[in-house]
Amino acid sequence: MSVFTAAYPVGHPNPDLGAPVIITNHDAAAEKRHTVAVEVSDALMKNRFSCRYYLPKPVDKNIIEEIIDVARCAPSGNNMQPWEKVYCITGAKKDAIAREMVQANQETPEAYSAQYLYYPAGPIPPQYAKRRFEFGKHFYYPLHVDHGDLKARSRVSTRNFDFFNAPVAFIFTINNVLTQGSWMDVGYFLQSMTIAARARGLETISQMAPAKYQLILRQHLPIGDDEIVALSMCMGYPDLEKIAQFSAKQPKREVSDIIEFFDS
Ligand SMILES: Cc1cc2nc3c(=O)[nH]c(=O)nc-3n(C[C@H](O)[C@H](O)[C@H](O)COP(=O)(O)O)c2cc1C
Repeated sequence: MSVFTAAYPVGHPNPDLGAPVIITNHDAAAEKRHTVAVEVSDALMKNRFSCRYYLPKPVDKNIIEEIIDVARCAPSGNNMQPWEKVYCITGAKKDAIAREMVQANQETPEAYSAQYLYYPAGPIPPQYAKRRFEFGKHFYYPLHVDHGDLKARSRVSTRNFDFFNAPVAFIFTINNVLTQGSWMDVGYFLQSMTIAARARGLETISQMAPAKYQLILRQHLPIGDDEIVALSMCMGYPDLEKIAQFSAKQPKREVSDIIEFFDS
């Protein structure tokens, strides 16, 4: 039995979902499981980053299925599980979609739009504007791109449309009747995929950029009229050399800046 294999509490209604780490008593083995679980889960989450460089190494379909098997356990309001469809694209299909998106982005970007606004159209509160600006500084510096050089920035962002050369891309849709709550649920699903992927030596990047080219995606995939193309994700084995050269770790807010305790 591995340190991560622990029994479900008696009477768990859904034993077919696998075995989580559950500390039912405080014997030495349970304590050890706990320590290892903390170390592993913290490392998987704290070392995560958006990966924009991948090795040309395919990902086994059964590994992808394992990752979805993990992510399907994500919580969702009333357990509606509103990750309507996850379209997984690889090989010639991915290349064909990427080619068309890159071309459209170069030639007629104004002809396309996403079905929702990821960011507000107007000004945003200063703390967010500041962090967005800081993101750009960290992102473009290792690429030797001047923050003010819009043409060079556009060249960089074009990589979104060939899925950063990742061997696997996922397109996530959501039913057009569902509202913000369900969109949050889909976020839990994507983060679960990211962590499950990392545990298997894979990296990911979540993307909103390809949603703009939903008309192209619809030509290649059986996306229903009632599905909104919400997000995409690239996945693959990381090219660590390129990452070291061209990626900067994005700063994160301090715990004390995020949480406020109220106890009396
Ligand atoms: C929902 C979502 C959509 C994103 N869309 C894009 C995208 O289209 N292109 C991109 O390069 N990065 C995208 N990102 C990655 C963010 O830029 C990145 O998460 C952020 O800068 C923090 O960096 P880190 O993920 O490396 O910690 C997206 C992230 C999320 C969560």
